[in-house]
Amino acid sequence: MNDEMQSELIHKAIETRKNAYVPYSHYPVGAALLTASGNIFTGVNVENAAYPTTICAERVAVFKAVSEGEQDFRAIAVVTANGGSPCGSCRQVLAEFNTDMDVLIADEDGNLIAKMTVSDLLPSAFTPKDLK
Ligand code: THU
Repeated sequence: MNDEMQSELIHKAIETRKNAYVPYSHYPVGAALLTASGNIFTGVNVENAAYPTTICAERVAVFKAVSEGEQDFRAIAVVTANGGSPCGSCRQVLAEFNTDMDVLIADEDGNLIAKMTVSDLLPSAFTPKDLK
């Protein structure tokens, strides 16, 4: 992924983060997921009065892409106020599709805080290959 695409993903995540529904945590998260076909699917966290029902931004982006027929993911940008890292559940969902996927962690000003792969975030992941 070139610098231009990296920057586009981060800026899409910053833009979509404005739509986060976060009345409880007040911690908006934006995600932008790049597919092999070049499409970008965005996601935000959507909280719920029944707290565990909340869904994270990363999983919204992945589920939107899958429901639109795409499963080949290349990179995801995740934007928070302070460059927070994806939660364990989101790491597992990302690993389902591509452990080599790039993960860009950025803050709300667009600063790249960290760049790694899903494998870095979730070593020795349990994935579909384990069920073969
Ligand atoms: N959150 C995400 O959207 N992604 C993560 O990977 C970490 C946490 C959300 C869930 C909740 O709405 C808020 O951040 C605080 O936990």
